[in-house]
Amino acid sequence: MGKKIYIFDTTLRDGEQTPGVSLNIDEKLEIARQLQVLGADVIEAGFPFASKGDFEAVKAVAQNIRGPIIAGLARTSKDDIDTAWEALKYAEKPRIHTFIATSDIHMEHKLKMKPEEVLERARTMVKYAKSLCPNVEFSAEDATRTRPEFLYKVIEAVIEAGADVVNIPDTVGYTTPGEYGAFIKGIKESVPNIDKAIISVHCHNDLGLAVANSLAAIENGAQQIECAINGLGERAGNAALEEVVMTIKTRSDRFESYTDVVTEQITRTSNLVSHLTGVLIQNNKAIVGANAFAHESGIHQHGVLNCRETYEIMTPESVGLKKNLIVLGKHSGRHAFEQRLKELGYDHLEGDKINEAFHKFKDLADKKKDISDEDIEALVKQQVFQVPEAFNLEYFQFSSGNSIVSTSTVKINYNGNAVEEAACGDGPVDATFKAIEKATGINVKLKDYFLKAVGSGKDALGEVTVKVEKDGKIYSAKGVSTDVVESSAKAFINAINKIHYYANHME
Ligand code: KIV
Ligand code: ZN
Repeated sequence: MGKKIYIFDTTLRDGEQTPGVSLNIDEKLEIARQLQVLGADVIEAGFPFASKGDFEAVKAVAQNIRGPIIAGLARTSKDDIDTAWEALKYAEKPRIHTFIATSDIHMEHKLKMKPEEVLERARTMVKYAKSLCPNVEFSAEDATRTRPEFLYKVIEAVIEAGADVVNIPDTVGYTTPGEYGAFIKGIKESVPNIDKAIISVHCHNDLGLAVANSLAAIENGAQQIECAINGLGERAGNAALEEVVMTIKTRSDRFESYTDVVTEQITRTSNLVSHLTGVLIQNNKAIVGANAFAHESGIHQHGVLNCRETYEIMTPESVGLKKNLIVLGKHSGRHAFEQRLKELGYDHLEGDKINEAFHKFKDLADKKKDISDEDIEALVKQQVFQVPEAFNLEYFQFSSGNSIVSTSTVKINYNGNAVEEAACGDGPVDATFKAIEKATGINVKLKDYFLKAVGSGKDALGEVTVKVEKDGKIYSAKGVSTDVVESSAKAFINAINKIHYYANHME
């Protein structure tokens, strides 16, 4: 089995720093629950001092999630650390994660502090954090561009002050595997008290090397990897959790290590994160992309049919991809549908929700012959993660063509009143969005719109993701239907309902 590698998931903190991503408390809790099922050792739930929303989210995760360590980020300042502790103190296993930059460029131009001041600040604030919380991690931001001799001194000082974990981030994604491995080895050999702490790594993907760098660090003594689902994170993102974990598993011969991640939960976790963040996964993404286990060429297909290992180094089942041979359709009953929901991991759905999902399934079966697992998931995810529907879209009707101005009429129910409005726009989707804005009285800025086919075939479902901005906040929502204007209208009204819900239920 070898050495245990701790998986520190930062989807909810660094991952939330992905441009255009903003998660509310319920969404963060849902992801944290799934990370717990996935078997992450540490969940970094947020940066409590950064905003009230972040504080409440970290607190909610600390109160509700048992099993993994719950970490909260804090700069090396008393206010940050106090706020982090206020949110984390409810956790079964809390961790304060405090950081300060140690590279010359950051100390001079960002912090405007002398190296001795940074060293002293790191030491005193780790000591302070440790007086509050039994478990403390220290990060030397921009470590890979830090003079090694100075970094050794800082690491020695923070371990002496009580740090349990020392993190060596490649903050700007600058290093390379050979160089980073040697850097970690240098720390191991030069910091006298290094055996009293765990070495952690946190790599950004600016040069596409985050996973390779993290693995090089493992080979040189690091024991914790900070990573995010689907590789989310600041700029080009962080090391992708699924890639790190599956490499350690698939090449355990080389790494002589293991993680406690339940790899069969990877696909489900990846889909959930993509759904809630609105960040789509590229088809050729390793491990979780739609093509990751697809064999296109005849030679490959032939090889796999004869002996799977000819072209498959890991099985689709090992990451939780199951191919169901029984396809559901119009004649399938509630029992078969419920059974399939359970197999897909929706075993916590209760009576009303199942009824509602079953009706949606029947409606779809009238329009589409074979209903795949992807179709069912697309329908059910809508429902599970939907806020209560204050505005209900009763109908919409549009006229459009290549030589006329598109117009759309919508009827929306709100609090027992029905409102009908019409609008013109650049195409039927734009006209429908404008009519919905008029009818609900909520105007937003459309930041992003994507349309994706779920499955294949002419009758495939169209899944629309919209990201809208209201009062500086981003809300993402989805809608699915066999008609793309309807998917768009559903996604847009779902986003409006989210805005309404969170305006009335303080985050
Ligand atoms: O990239 C980075 O350096 C960070 C630290 C705060 C760990 O995210
Ligand atoms: Zn980072």
